[in-house]
Amino acid sequence: MLIKKHYLRKTLLNFQDKSCMNEYKLKKILITGGLGFLGSNLAVRLVEEGAAVTILDSLDDRYGGNTVNIDRIKNQVRLIIGDVCNKSILQPLVADADIIFHFAAQVSYIDSLKIPLEDLDKNALSTLLMLEICRALNHRPLILFASSRMVLGYVSNKMFSENDYPKPLSLYGVHKLLSENYLHLYYREFKIPFIVMRLTNPYGPRQQIKHSKYSLVGWFIRMAMNQETIRIFGEGTQLRDYIYSEDIVEGFFRIGKCEKAIGKIVNIGSGKGTAFRDMVSTVLEVVGNGQMEFVPWPNNYENLETGDAIADISLIRDLTGFSPRFSLHEGTARTYEYYKKHLSDYI
Ligand SMILES: NC(=O)c1ccc[n+]([C@@H]2O[C@H](COP(=O)([O-])OP(=O)(O)OC[C@H]3O[C@@H](n4cnc5c(N)ncnc54)[C@H](O)[C@@H]3O)[C@@H](O)[C@H]2O)c1
Repeated sequence: MLIKKHYLRKTLLNFQDKSCMNEYKLKKILITGGLGFLGSNLAVRLVEEGAAVTILDSLDDRYGGNTVNIDRIKNQVRLIIGDVCNKSILQPLVADADIIFHFAAQVSYIDSLKIPLEDLDKNALSTLLMLEICRALNHRPLILFASSRMVLGYVSNKMFSENDYPKPLSLYGVHKLLSENYLHLYYREFKIPFIVMRLTNPYGPRQQIKHSKYSLVGWFIRMAMNQETIRIFGEGTQLRDYIYSEDIVEGFFRIGKCEKAIGKIVNIGSGKGTAFRDMVSTVLEVVGNGQMEFVPWPNNYENLETGDAIADISLIRDLTGFSPRFSLHEGTARTYEYYKKHLSDYI
C-alpha cells in the first residue's frame, strides 16, 4: 500500500513537474473527435506548439468531422479513423498519450432522446472505457473532457457557475454529467487526473454547417449566404454565451497546462450574454444578406429550453488569466470569411 501511494504521488508529481514548464512541446496528445470543429482547431494550435498529436475520429457523417479541417497539419499528425467506443482501437492510443482531449461525442442534445443508447455509449461509456483502460494499464494521462453547460439544465440566475446544482433537461446533458462523475470517481479512487471543461456556445471556422442540430451561428451564416429567411422561435430574447473558436481553443490550451485545475470543473465561455435575435442580426449584418422572421416555439423544443445562460468564467480567469478577445461581430466576420472561401467543403 505504501509503495502504491508513493508511486501515485510520484506519477502526479512527474506530471505536475512537466506541466509547470508550461509547454505542450513534445507531449503526446490524443484528441478524440479531432476531425471535428473544436478538436481540429485545437489540433492546429497544438501542432504549432510542437506537440505530437494523434487524432481518433470515426468520421460519422452526422457530426462535424471533416478531413479538410486538418489540411494545414495533415502531415504533422497521426490520424486514426475509428470508434472511440472500440477498446482495441482506443487502448493503444490511450497507453501512448500524456494528455487526452476527449471530444468525440454524439453532439446533438435534440437527437439524444431519439438515440438514447447511442448517446449513452458515446457521451458516457466512452469515458468509462477510457478510464478503465488507464486503470488496467496503471497509466495516468491527464484527461480533459468536453462537457457542456447542458448538464445544468434550466439556469435560473442567468449566470451559471461551476457550483450550480446540475439538473439536465436532455439525455445529452445526463450522459455528459455521467462522464463528469466517472472522472471524479476515478480521480478519487485511482488518481487518474482530469479536468472537466463545461462549454457554452462555440462558433467559428471548421464548424459543421450541414444541419441545424447544433452550432447555430455557422448554420445561420450558411442560410444568410443563401439569402434564406432565419426563423426565430418566440421573441428570441433568450441570452446565450457565444464564444469564438480561437478564444475557446485558448481556453483549452491554458487550462490543459494548469495543474491547479486538475480534479476540477471549469467553465469556458465568453462570459457575455447576447440575445438570440441579436446574434441573428449580427449574422445578417456581417453577411449582408438574408432576413429573419419570428415564429412560435415548436412544442418539443420549448421543453428543452434552458433559459438565459451565461458562463461565469471567473475560475478559468483566476487560474490561467484567460480572457476572450473576440466580440461576436469580429468572430462572425472571421467565420464568414472562412466559409466564403471553403463553403463547398462544408455542405
Ligand atoms: N459545438 C457545441 O455547441 C458544443 C457545446 C458544448 C460542448 N460541446 C462538446 O465539444 C465536443 C466537440 O464538439 P464539436 O463542436 O467539435 O462537434 P463536431 O461534431 O464538430 O465534432 C465531434 C467529432 O466527434 C467525432 N465522433 C463522433 N462519434 C465518434 C465516435 N464514436 N468515435 C470517434 N469519433 C467520433 C465526429 O466524427 C466529429 O468529428 C463534443 O464533446 C461536444 O459534446 C460542443
